[in-house]
Amino acid sequence: MSERPPMVRAEGLGKGYGSGPTRLEVLDGLDLEVPAGQMLAVVGPSGVGKSTLLHLIGLLDRPDRGRLALDGLAADDLDGNRRAGLRSRLIGFVFQHHHLLDELDALDNVALPLRIAGVRAAGARDRAAELLDAVGLTGRASHFPDQLSGGEQQRVSVARALAMRPGLLLADEPTGNLDRDNAERLFELVIELHLKAGLTSIIVTHNEEMARRCDRIFRLAPRAELSSDVRTV
Ligand SMILES: Nc1ncnc2c1ncn2[C@@H]1O[C@H](COP(=O)(O)OP(=O)(O)O)[C@@H](O)[C@H]1O
Ligand SMILES: [Mg+2]
Repeated sequence: MSERPPMVRAEGLGKGYGSGPTRLEVLDGLDLEVPAGQMLAVVGPSGVGKSTLLHLIGLLDRPDRGRLALDGLAADDLDGNRRAGLRSRLIGFVFQHHHLLDELDALDNVALPLRIAGVRAAGARDRAAELLDAVGLTGRASHFPDQLSGGEQQRVSVARALAMRPGLLLADEPTGNLDRDNAERLFELVIELHLKAGLTSIIVTHNEEMARRCDRIFRLAPRAELSSDVRTV
């Protein structure tokens, strides 16, 4: 038995948008515990709240109700600065759209989180080169995003997400814009890095085949009691 706290413990999370008659409740009392080291797939119909859930777990947004602890640390009462600190130390994000900066080449995009965290240029670039190597893009370091294919752009995004050596990787439909082959290759890469870096990973996907390759599938349904949670291994 591991002594480690779960990487994610969410209890009774509630989140809605808007107010008055147009108020939309998206998550209503969601409970989710993700043990350290697990690779969890989150699936569910469009609009059900998958991105909302990932944003709450990733400390990009705050719930209306409920409690959230990451790696044993309660996130609920942290002020904005502490949340930002915890986020940059603990969490790496990959989104459906790559969000790379057009004016930086691949190496500098990957190095950016390190530079922001105060790592010196030479050290940040060494680490970025190592990461580009790990995602199979050694020869692409000085290419700009618009000189890369969609699959390559996403691999740079994965490298950037791992720059700060996060414990928790959150990916929101990372293969959503890729063709079948590139989606498959990106997913393989994420599994490989998940295992190699000892990550906890939460991956939102529409792809059932990929979901089944994760350790566990959490199916988000419009009403909490209809959600299901299945271990695949
Ligand atoms: N910032 C927002 N303001 C208002 N409504 C939002 C906002 N973000 C998401 N929503 C709505 O909340 C619901 C859930 O959205 P989302 O979490 O993006 O779903 P999913 O990722 O499962 O497709 C959708 O109906 C969406 O339109
Ligand atoms: Mg979404």
